[in-house]
Amino acid sequence: MLVESCPQKTWQHVTAARQRGLLTGCVPTMGALHQGHVSLMQRARTECGYVTATIFVNPTQFGPQEDFSKYPRTLQADLQLCEQAGVDLVFTPQADQMYVADAETTVQVGRLTTVLEGAHRPGHFDGVTTVVAKLLMITQPHKAYFGQKDFQQQLVVRRMVRDLNIPVEIVTCPIIREPDGLAMSSRNRYLSVAERQTAVALSRALRLAADLCSQPAAVPAEVERQMRQMLLQTPGLELQYAVLADPDTLQPLPERVLSGARAVGLIAARVGSTRLIDNLLLSFG
Ligand code: PAJ
Repeated sequence: MLVESCPQKTWQHVTAARQRGLLTGCVPTMGALHQGHVSLMQRARTECGYVTATIFVNPTQFGPQEDFSKYPRTLQADLQLCEQAGVDLVFTPQADQMYVADAETTVQVGRLTTVLEGAHRPGHFDGVTTVVAKLLMITQPHKAYFGQKDFQQQLVVRRMVRDLNIPVEIVTCPIIREPDGLAMSSRNRYLSVAERQTAVALSRALRLAADLCSQPAAVPAEVERQMRQMLLQTPGLELQYAVLADPDTLQPLPERVLSGARAVGLIAARVGSTRLIDNLLLSFG
């Protein structure tokens, strides 16, 4: 496994692999890797002849009050997990290798970035799309792998790739969960033992929503109400949003939906000082 911090050399390695006729895959991450990240790398390994993982805690996607400086950095353990997953090349740039001081170009996606995470984290998606565009240019993948865990992020990245004709296929991989249902996240390591217990409420509320939706004549607003009620009754949890939305546009659902209609339940909440998100695809009974 090669480890490379230079963008140009990374581009050269992948370009050489492409010239050998290999299908190239990329798994962008911010490190502090867990089994969720590993599942993306394993999927890439099965589908591609040359797999690049990127590890970069991207400063531009963190708000001024957010956890950029305390975000977990565990490079040695991360490299071991990459190696075990069969990654060929790990791109680990420093911030000054990714961003020149006088950069004047960013990538911005429109309406999709104004709701939910975009509304609660102003500027976040501009940071994400700009860095993902750069990472895709540097790592030249035929396929790039994202987790459903960040549901809105994968939609925004798909929209960027479509709108800018970036020649890459975006693959969205299922959420990997702890045995009790908590979605794996690098931020879970901030949780105390008590907070860890509280955090399971997010996935429980989503499962409740799935049960309610599957019943005949379920009404979206009522499902949302019950999901919110469950979360609001959880001590130690500060709810930011809990909604059902259209899984393609993230717009609210109509008042009544047909049997078989698809939706996504999305939750964001603070547990102590840790901000958690989770989601689940739903279908109406
Ligand atoms: P990060 O939070 O490190 O996540 C990297 C990728 O792993 C994302 O696509 C995310 O959705 C996926 N992932 C995280 N937890 C997962 C889980 N439990 N199951 C499945 N996939 C999971 O997302 C980012 O980094 C950054 O925004 C990035 C795209 C790298 C741009 O900086």
